[in-house]
Amino acid sequence: MDARAEARQITWYHTLELDGFTTSGTFDLRPYVKEYGIPEDLSGKRVLEIGTWDGFWAFELERRGAEVIALDLDDERELDWPPRRRPTTFPEHARGRGFAIAKEILGSKAERVVRSIYHATPEELGQFDLVFCGSVLIHLRDQLLAYERMGGLTKSGGMLISAEEPAGGLMNLLPFAASRYHADREAAVVFWLPNRRAWKRMIWTAGYDRVDEHGRFTMKSNEGYDVPHVVLHGHKS
Ligand SMILES: C[S@@+](CC[C@H](N)C(=O)[O-])C[C@H]1O[C@@H](n2cnc3c(N)ncnc32)[C@H](O)[C@@H]1O
Repeated sequence: MDARAEARQITWYHTLELDGFTTSGTFDLRPYVKEYGIPEDLSGKRVLEIGTWDGFWAFELERRGAEVIALDLDDERELDWPPRRRPTTFPEHARGRGFAIAKEILGSKAERVVRSIYHATPEELGQFDLVFCGSVLIHLRDQLLAYERMGGLTKSGGMLISAEEPAGGLMNLLPFAASRYHADREAAVVFWLPNRRAWKRMIWTAGYDRVDEHGRFTMKSNEGYDVPHVVLHGHKS
């Protein structure tokens, strides 16, 4: 089927503007782009995006001039889901279908690599000037290993932009890094919900020598729920 026709049929996670047709995604990230502190000009930079889904960030990073590699998985059985909730069959549409359709319509050169961040190495992918990871780690069992992989994939002098949900209000008043155990939260697959200090500290532990809080904001989904976010920037010496 022609990509433009298919774009009108499938379910989208991201709202994307596809040559005159705007997809109706679960998340419309357009109002939040300014919150992440992405360098305006990424010409000549290699950028790695983790957990791209339909590719909103990959296409945005490419629009700023970057050469983009975007990681994700196709088979939901390979995601870190608790055993009771893990799907038993391959989904009707691979997770990357939307990305492929959007890439074709946009004429994008962003390359989607089917690889878990757990298994992403510089030997295979090289190193990057910028690693970008939005709203992925709350869904992972081993957040620290994921950050460690990102650290290994970042060039010396390079940067990480990480945006994740922190544990709620009072948890952030704790003067130490702490996580809530959340494996059976009903609305989503979330194992650990770190407070802001814990997110920051994990990034430092993973090899980023300076970690700054860039900002905080609340993202509204098109399904009626809100997700608070903290944006952290990690810098590698
Ligand atoms: C909540 S979505 C966020 C999508 C996008 N990054 C954003 O900011 O809107 C999480 C994404 O991470 C991907 N993901 C989950 N576990 C992953 C892993 N181990 N390695 C790479 N991607 C993963 C999911 O398939 C999904 O596309």
